[in-house]
Amino acid sequence: MEKPRKKFIDVVDKAMVAANTMDRDELLFSYKGILYPVTVCSPEVFKAMESLEARSDDVILAGYPKSGTNWVGQILSDLVATFEKKMQNEESINDEDLEEFPYLEVGDTGKYERMNKLPSRRVIFTHLLPDNLPRSVFQNKAKILLLIRNPKDVATSFYHFSNGMSVLPSYETWDDFFIAFMTEKSTVYSFMIILFYLVPWGSYFNYLSEWNKYAEDENVMTITYEELKENRALGVKNIAAFFGISLTEEELQGVVERSSFQSMKENSLKTHGALGSILFRKGGVSDWKSLFNEDQNEKMDKAFEEHIAGTKLGMKLKYDVYCRA
Ligand code: A3P
Repeated sequence: MEKPRKKFIDVVDKAMVAANTMDRDELLFSYKGILYPVTVCSPEVFKAMESLEARSDDVILAGYPKSGTNWVGQILSDLVATFEKKMQNEESINDEDLEEFPYLEVGDTGKYERMNKLPSRRVIFTHLLPDNLPRSVFQNKAKILLLIRNPKDVATSFYHFSNGMSVLPSYETWDDFFIAFMTEKSTVYSFMIILFYLVPWGSYFNYLSEWNKYAEDENVMTITYEELKENRALGVKNIAAFFGISLTEEELQGVVERSSFQSMKENSLKTHGALGSILFRKGGVSDWKSLFNEDQNEKMDKAFEEHIAGTKLGMKLKYDVYCRA
């Protein structure tokens, strides 16, 4: 049930090659106070994005970088493709000319007009804050699957990814990265320092707080990386039910099998090109224990308490189970 991935691989490969010739301080730009990689995003594209006409049958995945968006994205794309095949709409979903880069904020200024002409169902991934999504997403009641992961593993995964992926600034030490990950406000720093002390796509704690405002919305379903790790079959079933994708047990089981870490890693050259070997790293829970020192544990525990503990998303994260040292 593979969708064409040629465009995905082309875009990522070109961005990685371009970034290889750039200095560290040229890799990011700031838009509305948040940093993004210049090789895949631009202010013009952000402005053009407002013309996207969201639909109530869109399948949207929202997740902060490194929370498992490629994994859950594969599950969603596979659910839709399996359903379309069953309904014999296979040509439309496998047409390479219709393929768009799955992350909403990555592309060219013509992307959204092309997307407006795509047949349903469109599968869209995004790392953006809710306020930075096109207004039509909420106006037109598109359904959103919100994926969250425990913040210590997100930071750990982000650190390794930043040091492997040329489009992102790398860090000499984990301690340097930790400072950047924990820094929230850009305004107090000079431009050069911002680039060093903030991570792209903004602070994760801010991301959780902002999305928490939508956590009770009937068109938003929240799922955690950890619950999906514990029981992928149940997660896939619940996701399909939320989007109204009706499949047999056997068809659902196929989606479950194709989304195992091992299966995705083995397939990754075909699905993700050179990025695959960087992206599919460990795919587990609690790798943070290999990096966090006592002081960093305390700082993150405190930030969690201040920003998100006690909220719906905070409780969903089961911090005491997955993040206590
Ligand atoms: P690690 O770096 O901890 O291994 P994203 O896709 O949002 O960038 O997230 C990447 C993280 O999801 C990586 O975490 C990656 O290994 C993990 N991941 C990718 N596919 C997965 C799968 N099928 N099962 C579990 N984790 C997966």
